[in-house]
Amino acid sequence: MNYDYSLTIDYLLDWYDLNARILAWREDPNPYYVWVSEIMLQQTRVEAVKFYFERFVNTLPNIEALAMVEEEKLHKLWEGLGYYTRVRNLQKAAKIIMNEYNGVMPANYEELLKLPGIGSYTAGAIASIAFHITQPAVDGNVLRVMKRVAGSYDDIMKSSVKKELEQDLREIIPSDRPGDYNQAIMELGATVCIPNGKPLCEKCPIMHLCNAYQQGIEMDIPVKTAKKPRKIEDKTILLMERNGEYAIHKRESKGLLAGLWEFPNIEGKLTASALEEMLNKQGLQNFTIENLGEGKHIFSHIEWHMVGYLIRMNEAMTVKEPSFDGYLPENNIASKEKYIWASVKKIDKEYTLPTAFKTYRQCMTN
Ligand code: ADE
Repeated sequence: MNYDYSLTIDYLLDWYDLNARILAWREDPNPYYVWVSEIMLQQTRVEAVKFYFERFVNTLPNIEALAMVEEEKLHKLWEGLGYYTRVRNLQKAAKIIMNEYNGVMPANYEELLKLPGIGSYTAGAIASIAFHITQPAVDGNVLRVMKRVAGSYDDIMKSSVKKELEQDLREIIPSDRPGDYNQAIMELGATVCIPNGKPLCEKCPIMHLCNAYQQGIEMDIPVKTAKKPRKIEDKTILLMERNGEYAIHKRESKGLLAGLWEFPNIEGKLTASALEEMLNKQGLQNFTIENLGEGKHIFSHIEWHMVGYLIRMNEAMTVKEPSFDGYLPENNIASKEKYIWASVKKIDKEYTLPTAFKTYRQCMTN
């Protein structure tokens, strides 16, 4: 027997009316704003998103501007948010909307679902918040809240569990305020029925309806099967400095961090002496090596475990300009022509260096 979620509607809406945070995309819930904010919010907290959202919609005020903007500028607007596939899909979808929907976001759940980067959660959020369509928007937060309310030990990592909750909510979602109902659940999940640590049950407007609270099992729910462990990749990161400029390289257009810029790097963790020997073999003689220490970055499926070195190249070694041949480790030459030298200022302004390189980025001096 499934829980009767219709019991929660009035309590959640009344609570939302009093407690909803004031956010730019709520003040003006047009489809473009709702879409952009929901994509940003997928991996990032509201507080962090505010700044990015403002800058993004000020720079790209509509779907047409998003469709037209060049890749480097688009990446730069996303720098620091991570999961760059999200922004590439935003642009892909914007182009489709321009070409196939006359530049107007489709006011239809099924049509929204066809767009790149829009799954059932985002389609439901846009449909309900921007178009007042009675569709649920179920993500991990909504699953947590509703499984607690129901006192259910279902494994929320299972797609069948998510589908079932979507169906249950679709049947009861209030037709006068579908977007507010969805956002009330999300807001409760963000501020009261929180994910890590103890939920603030004493502040909850539906504590009297919550089976987990009544039974004292709120900390045991939701049940989540463990994900498989991330793959660990060791890397040696090189800050190659010459005349106050640093070498950066544009990554391949496919795969992890596609199309973004990186410091030259080598598979495996090299010692300073192994690195020195490698560079010598490449014909590089006149340089100093400084160990910049260890760094770690966690992606969704991969962890990079890094060691970094600052390699200051003597000016006498610059004769081979502008080619980089001979200066770079042999197993990092996938696309040599995409290496450039740039000042810190220029890198900050024009090139997107993902957060994965943050530890070493901070070591660059002007
Ligand atoms: N998280 C994702 N989308 C949200 C929204 N619209 N309101 C509150 N939290 C959210």
